[in-house]
Amino acid sequence: MKTTILTGLRVNSEFTLGNYLGALLPMVRLANRHSKEANVNIFVPDLHSIISSVDGSLKDNTFRSIKYYLAAGLELNDNVHLYRQSRVPAHAELTWVLNCIATMGEMGRMIQYKEKSEGKDSANVGIFDYPVLMAADILLYDATFVPVGEDQFQHIELTRNLAERFNHRFGDTFTVPVETKKQAEFMGTSGGIRIRDLVNPEKKMSKSTPGENSKIMLSDTPEKAAKKIMSATTDSFGEIRFDFKERPGISNLLLIESLIHDRPLAEVIAEWEGKPSYGDLKKTVAASVRTLLEEFQARYLAIPTDNLESLLEQGEAYANSVSNQKLLKVYQKVGLR
Ligand code: TYM
Repeated sequence: MKTTILTGLRVNSEFTLGNYLGALLPMVRLANRHSKEANVNIFVPDLHSIISSVDGSLKDNTFRSIKYYLAAGLELNDNVHLYRQSRVPAHAELTWVLNCIATMGEMGRMIQYKEKSEGKDSANVGIFDYPVLMAADILLYDATFVPVGEDQFQHIELTRNLAERFNHRFGDTFTVPVETKKQAEFMGTSGGIRIRDLVNPEKKMSKSTPGENSKIMLSDTPEKAAKKIMSATTDSFGEIRFDFKERPGISNLLLIESLIHDRPLAEVIAEWEGKPSYGDLKKTVAASVRTLLEEFQARYLAIPTDNLESLLEQGEAYANSVSNQKLLKVYQKVGLR
């Protein structure tokens, strides 16, 4: 069986530099490296998007997200499959089956759920259940590698647990994705990637943070983005060190620099560590971010849009065929067929 590499990014709003460096770019690099011999499934989790309020722009944002992958350099071939989750009904159907083996206890421990709901009674059930939908997204295609940022690692572990539990109860059905440490190794990083908020670097950079200067959006003008890097919070130690615990701001800049240029983090650290020049590092990273956005935005504007719908439909024909076979197997195992 061919190896499958799979990922998705919600399209509620604009993507941040965190989404780009933590998931989109690593996925594109892996896809281009492996798509001759592996399946590369890139899907738009639009059913996930509606756990937050969405306006009528969901459909447009879907196309924008596909264009983002192409602008980031994704090369297309017969092994690269692009599809919309809501066009592949098996995702929602397998979710129901997995809901019946997932426990309230394990779901209640999901950090993203706790952060998003903060114990509010008014939080919707979708927020609670969306990691199960994510597990279905992955298990339907027997995906081994799922490039995601560190904040999604707990959901990968949940997916592994659900797959193992199902296989144990009903017999071998799902490929269990590799553990998160190996996922990171496959992405070529020593651990999960978490790009930090530029103002409060203890937190991750997030599209839902209200502060303008906290995050860089892919639609920011390159100038504006560079300014945000120049004003990023660092520390007062006066010497560059890579240490996310004590010096998250400066460490974040080193990480951003290494990811943009696809250089080993250790090499970037060796170049800068011990130097007193925070300003020089900021200027270097600001220039890297500026060039990244200039090139990305130019490529984005040049992408033809007339074939996107047919590209997705082609991917959806593939996704429906693969996922329906897996769903039938699941239904047979649990006794529904
Ligand atoms: P989402 O849409 O919140 O985020 C998309 C991807 O961006 C990564 N990311 C980050 N990486 C590094 N630093 C950051 N500051 C940062 N912020 C976001 C996320 O880790 C993610 O990889 N549930 C998923 C979408 C999804 C999915 C799937 C992913 C649904 N089904 C199946 C993989 C496989 C989500 O909400 O990600």
